[in-house]
Amino acid sequence: MSPERFSPHPPKLPYKFLTPQEADHFLTHGWLKVPNAIIPEYIDAWMGDFWVRTGGDEHDKTTWKDEYQHLPHHRQVRHDQFCPEAWQKISDICGGEERIHLERERWIGDNFIVNFGSEARSKSQVETSPKEKKGWHFDNDWYRQFLDSSGTAMTIIHCFTDIPAHGGGTWLCEDGLAGVIQHLYDHPEGLDPGLNNGDVCNDIIKSCEEFTSVVAKKGDVFILHGLLPHVASFNYLHYARVITNPHVTLKEPYNLNRPDGDYSLLEQVILRGLDRQSVPEYEPTRDRMYWYPRNWTFKEAKIRDELDAMIAAAKAKGLDEKAVDSIWLKGEQARKDFDERNGLLLPVHEEAGLQLSQHKL
Ligand SMILES: [Fe+2]
Repeated sequence: MSPERFSPHPPKLPYKFLTPQEADHFLTHGWLKVPNAIIPEYIDAWMGDFWVRTGGDEHDKTTWKDEYQHLPHHRQVRHDQFCPEAWQKISDICGGEERIHLERERWIGDNFIVNFGSEARSKSQVETSPKEKKGWHFDNDWYRQFLDSSGTAMTIIHCFTDIPAHGGGTWLCEDGLAGVIQHLYDHPEGLDPGLNNGDVCNDIIKSCEEFTSVVAKKGDVFILHGLLPHVASFNYLHYARVITNPHVTLKEPYNLNRPDGDYSLLEQVILRGLDRQSVPEYEPTRDRMYWYPRNWTFKEAKIRDELDAMIAAAKAKGLDEKAVDSIWLKGEQARKDFDERNGLLLPVHEEAGLQLSQHKL
């Protein structure tokens, strides 16, 4: 049976780079895997000082420190340069590359999210089920979230290592997507990061059944709708699982009332979640607000130690500081560019404050 023929919300076709099957998968599951999409040179170069930065010995697991770590960036390249094939599909999902913000979240870095697991966990006889897992969320730490907000239009998972089953691949909750969409429709006043957007998904997940976990090869890219609930999972295999989680930001909010019906796939997912053909009545009832990204603070705090380790490693090879490739050693302009690309010039949300320590696994 062709889903295009029988679904009340078939994807609008054709797309330039997505196959009909890929468009249908994104629409019905809320995510899409693009295998082997990262240019290998970036993985090799950026993983080159992974162990220097995390401070462990690759061959001695007893030296691996914190089980779960979010690292800061040292390098950034344009997203389209990093994974051209995935970028083409991302552009299709947005309704065209011209809709994507030119600077914000357009740069992809080595801000790794590391999940080592542990010896104790690898010996565990019982695995935590996705429903029991705490911390379900959709990503947004910097703007007031409305149904039509497109600041985190997509959450991307870039895989820098293989991720076998039970190896800490992100859990996704497919049937939670509609619950998030309905919640945002019901709350046109919007949700503020750090104040009232934290528990939305955990409540929705309780009544969900469609869970899937990321299983990948090094170089794979996963494209998630920005409202798809997800959560970090435990790594039971005690190896270094390394990913990054950048986002795609659009220039304008979604349009959920297009008279010509020419909705982007991102918009189609929202309409499908509401089982509607358009939502002309939807209107945010408060101002759109944008703030300093509250999760940056705890990552920034790690930069100095990582830089010191990188410089020491260079010196041990007879090189000097100039051999270290890091934004933080490239002068004022590089720092200004980084601030602009990552929203660091925006005001702090005084009431919500900043995330001073990393969230738990
Ligand atoms: Fe996330």
